[in-house]
Amino acid sequence: MTSARPASATWVSDARRVLDENWTGSSTVPSRSLYPHQWSWDSAFIAIGSRHLSARRAQRELETLLAAQWGDGRIPHIVFNLSVPQGAYFPSPDFWRSSTAGASAGAPAGIETSGIVQPPVHALAALLVHQADPAASARHGFLARTYPRLTAWHRYLTGARDLGGHGLVSVVHPWEPGMDNSPCWDAPLARVEPVEPGTFQRADLGHGTAADRPTDLDYGRYVRLAADYRDGGYRDAGAGHTFVVEDPGVNALLIASEHALAEIAALTGADPSPHRARAARLTAALTARLWDPAAGLFLSRDVRGDVLIPELSAAGLLPLLVPDLPRETAATLVRTACGAHFGLGSSVRLVPSYDLQGPAFDPSRYWRGPAWLNVNWLLERGLRLHGEASRADALRTAALETAVSSGFAEYVDPHTGQPRGIRDFSWTAALALDLAVAAGHAF
Ligand code: SER
Repeated sequence: MTSARPASATWVSDARRVLDENWTGSSTVPSRSLYPHQWSWDSAFIAIGSRHLSARRAQRELETLLAAQWGDGRIPHIVFNLSVPQGAYFPSPDFWRSSTAGASAGAPAGIETSGIVQPPVHALAALLVHQADPAASARHGFLARTYPRLTAWHRYLTGARDLGGHGLVSVVHPWEPGMDNSPCWDAPLARVEPVEPGTFQRADLGHGTAADRPTDLDYGRYVRLAADYRDGGYRDAGAGHTFVVEDPGVNALLIASEHALAEIAALTGADPSPHRARAARLTAALTARLWDPAAGLFLSRDVRGDVLIPELSAAGLLPLLVPDLPRETAATLVRTACGAHFGLGSSVRLVPSYDLQGPAFDPSRYWRGPAWLNVNWLLERGLRLHGEASRADALRTAALETAVSSGFAEYVDPHTGQPRGIRDFSWTAALALDLAVAAGHAF
């Protein structure tokens, strides 16, 4: 084993400061300004990094989120901090009204959450948090407590959310796959009647540049979809959703997490085989439903019309996280990541969120081109999983340098590395720490 090299004290203390300042005592806000509550997949990525500072705090991060799980198994995408003023974030708790509108779906009383979900990266995060300090994890019964909740979460996704009926998870709102404003959603969103302008007040524009954020028309549609879901009691089956999409990123993360859940099951004395079987079924469905050989990556499927959406998104590369992907498929994904559309290692150092050559490419606007650290962290892992160690090493170096030089930006221009969105973003700081540890640094 090589001995750990000390990381530069300055940036590590900056990353630690971001995470400390964004820690509320029970979880971490993605940003004090733009996102002042707890977000679901943010907390998973934050725990993956903060486990290197305090395994206990990382456990707490995940357990706070899991405490807000609904009776039907869903993990809400936001858990609201009711001491934050309603106007600080839109849509606020009085829009979602989870404890009343979600009661029949088992939304907890005494806590307010959103009613939609985010990508299921939590079991992977729980396993990594456990591995940071297995003794402390065992002492606190961390895996024994989280395993049933994570199992219920995956059961919800593969059951109630198999809206296409072909063994994949569907999302019912563009915020659910986490890549809110991706050009992939433009066609299915065009069917959605936006709510009247002026009937809601955005809070996000007060914290950053409008050119980096979604448009008002997009927001009008986001609000319509969320309000309709709420008014239907957050019911999934038979709800007549206007927006129903099978996204390769969500499904790939579920498969990676299902494999992690198999490991967690084995560690807690439960049977891992149902998790392995489910991962195998999902892998087969992912390839059958979403692989596009001509494009050389996975596409999203618009379930309403049962058609693939011909837009190339970084989500379509995330199946590199799937261990049992056919060898040729994995090799093709690597070629696509490094080819003209995503430019990894040639025109850009980090994988952009969307096709560099796509008609809707915008290097600044939310999920329509900028590069994100969580996506690149996932792809670094996927490259390594499929034997691409030198590409993974180069991506790790680039991701770490960009995270630090951008001031832990929410996202960056993929060509210039210039910061976009807000700074001091929690998952950027957390994942930079994780990449540094993986590169052999100590702090
Ligand atoms: N990312 C969304 C927002 O911008 C919601 O999760 O508020």
